[in-house]
Amino acid sequence: MKKPACYNEFHLSMLIHNSSQLITLTPSPQRGKDLGTLSIIDHGAVLFHGELIEAVGTSEDLLRKYPNERRLDVHGKVVMPGLVDPHTHLVWAGDRAAEFEMRLQGKTYMQIMAAGGGIQSTVNATRAAKKTDLLAQTRDRANTMFACGTTTAEAKTGYGLQLSTELAQMETLLELDEQGPLEILPTFLAAHAVPAEFKDDPEGYTQLVTGQMLPTLKDWWHDHAGDRPLPFVDVFCEKGAFNLAQTHRILDSAKALGFPLKVHTDEFENIGGTQLAIEMGAVSADHLVKTSADDILAFSDSPTVAVALPCTPFGLAEGQYTPAKAIVDSGGILAIASDLNPGTAWCESMQFVMALACRYLHLTPAQALAAASINAAAAIRCEERLGSLHPGKQADILTLTVSDYRHLAYRFGENLVDTVFKKGNRILPTTPK
Ligand code: NIG
Ligand code: FE
Repeated sequence: MKKPACYNEFHLSMLIHNSSQLITLTPSPQRGKDLGTLSIIDHGAVLFHGELIEAVGTSEDLLRKYPNERRLDVHGKVVMPGLVDPHTHLVWAGDRAAEFEMRLQGKTYMQIMAAGGGIQSTVNATRAAKKTDLLAQTRDRANTMFACGTTTAEAKTGYGLQLSTELAQMETLLELDEQGPLEILPTFLAAHAVPAEFKDDPEGYTQLVTGQMLPTLKDWWHDHAGDRPLPFVDVFCEKGAFNLAQTHRILDSAKALGFPLKVHTDEFENIGGTQLAIEMGAVSADHLVKTSADDILAFSDSPTVAVALPCTPFGLAEGQYTPAKAIVDSGGILAIASDLNPGTAWCESMQFVMALACRYLHLTPAQALAAASINAAAAIRCEERLGSLHPGKQADILTLTVSDYRHLAYRFGENLVDTVFKKGNRILPTTPK
């Protein structure tokens, strides 16, 4: 096994023992009222061999059964699966601090976007950035996420809005994934906004996405990503971005080419994107702030994961959040994510997302933890190998500085992650706590 450059310690096997709580969760996603099933083993231990988990149990049992394994004593702290962030816009250049200030003075997000700022201003910065700068800025954020306990993240393009820059973003994501330690699953989001050069011709841009970008992406992926599963294709379905008919056409084309789907829907207005996402079998429908009672019901028996992004209303200082409890009560599969992006939610920490989810989505700490692990893994189709501590799953494991998992949501603004294991490798924090 080759040791990647970022790995400063390398282990082939280890028995992590003497935890206060070993949070194993469930091997598959938690629907409806099952959300929050942590399956805690008190004084638990976990053994991994290579990249995979071999056994979980009480420390007493595992120490007896495996007396010769290399050991790590965590001295009564929490051990849990690595967090999964299933919705980020990780790769961009520059910042929008000036727009933040404009919003504080009364301008809305959509007003700034309509005036040529917003997403378009990050598009301008990203198009102009040198490849090495884009990589360096993105890597800093990826390392911060990792140090805060996110071991796998979805990451979207969408700040190119022209084929060359969209593919440069994609290349950056594949390169960062290769370098590690954060594992990245990319999403193609050329339909994030209508770019300035198509301002008066959104149909023309939609046609460019369906007719040129998606087919080219498919060939490009084959050449650059080999056997990796195809990336997700996402659309910002919103007044001022892509209307329902345009969204439908883009999703149809993507589906015909074999891409799995995601949709940004009901962030500011409900134009029907949620029902469309569910009807088309999207892997997830994300944002879901202006979601109606009918939309909520549609999640009840659907495999489409509802992804709530509480950092976004928080970042915009808006009072309305995803009706997460209603989605759970109706039997849906709920996940949470950061939405990390320079416009609405520059937040790398899923611990902070959990803290917001308890306060504004009215989840319990156990529900927030399940929504940020096994259900988040389902939102990126990785539930079979990530999101819980079970034999055969990837050894992505966190040890915390605290003895009770509830501190993850109860406290905020401080990093409670002590050690991060990725695929069985202990990675020492790359950014200061
Ligand atoms: O998910 N809504 C669209 N996209 C992002 C914001 C992106 C930006 O403002 O740069 C979101 O909130
Ligand atoms: Fe987003």
